[in-house]
Amino acid sequence: MTSETSPSSQWSSTSTFNNKSSDRRSLVERSKLDGKTTVITGGARGIGLALVEAAAEAGSDVAILDILDKPQKELGDLGVKAKYYQTDVTRIESLEQTFDRIKKDFGRIDNCVTAAGIVVDKPFFDHKWNECEKLLKINVLGTYFCAQLAAKAMRDQGTGGSVVLIASIASHSALPLQRLSMYGATKGAVRVLMTQLSVELAPLNIRVNSISPGFIRTDMTELCAVQQPELYSVFNSAPPVGRIGETKDITGAVNYLLSDAAAYTTGADIPITGGLISGRIAN
Ligand SMILES: NC(=O)c1ccc[n+]([C@@H]2O[C@H](COP(=O)([O-])OP(=O)(O)OC[C@H]3O[C@@H](n4cnc5c(N)ncnc54)[C@H](O)[C@@H]3O)[C@@H](O)[C@H]2O)c1
Repeated sequence: MTSETSPSSQWSSTSTFNNKSSDRRSLVERSKLDGKTTVITGGARGIGLALVEAAAEAGSDVAILDILDKPQKELGDLGVKAKYYQTDVTRIESLEQTFDRIKKDFGRIDNCVTAAGIVVDKPFFDHKWNECEKLLKINVLGTYFCAQLAAKAMRDQGTGGSVVLIASIASHSALPLQRLSMYGATKGAVRVLMTQLSVELAPLNIRVNSISPGFIRTDMTELCAVQQPELYSVFNSAPPVGRIGETKDITGAVNYLLSDAAAYTTGADIPITGGLISGRIAN
């Protein structure tokens, strides 16, 4: 095929497609997060903390929100500007104040990752109103209003941005041994929120995607396994790849979604499950 007849040259010379993407930087450059400010909720430990470190490694300044009084690890040597805000994502006044402080401290918000969450693993018949309300408040309303406050900042800046919501494989399927009726319902809500926002916010160039982790080794999975020790072997043997996931297994996909390399990716959920999303090896 000559260059005159190749599809790409026809498209560039006679195209009736609009050509809004003018980013000519290399993939390596577009994958960096330099100059961006990323807000990460639930960033004091577990998946959120790994995402803080990964965003910083890619060059982003990081604003970390969590209800704990301090992060599990010293954040002094991240090599970027990093600030910790002790905040409960279920308290709207405190959330609004925190986002105002972040805008003052960093001057902008480009990215937001909502990792703050809790789990309740118990039979459907034993779930109590109060614990269901707490799950809904933290996992759904906390996610919703953090995304809203971040997107308002992006809208007011006129810069666009990226929002990544942390859902769960429990929003796709029921997991071996676990009884996650309300937790799964909250994560289903998170994924539907992602779908709705990806369309509503696209005209503002705000991309919204989600991650659905499988079994990842954190305090949350430890808590479930302490309550039900058979889960230790399930976490290792159920995923087709034959091991539990580590927090670093989540970071590459999130950094991609936060970066300009993902400029055309919105409305997507990425399951990171060691293959559990597709099925289990019979054993
Ligand atoms: N670990 C897994 O296997 C797994 C699987 C699927 C999804 N997830 C999701 O990933 C996210 C992170 O989970 P993790 O495994 O790192 O758990 P984790 O318990 O280690 O971390 C959750 C963080 O959220 C914070 N948090 C809880 N309530 C809060 C509140 N009201 N306000 C602010 N912060 C609050 C906690 O203090 C903690 O630092 C959660 O949304 C979880 O549902 C985890």
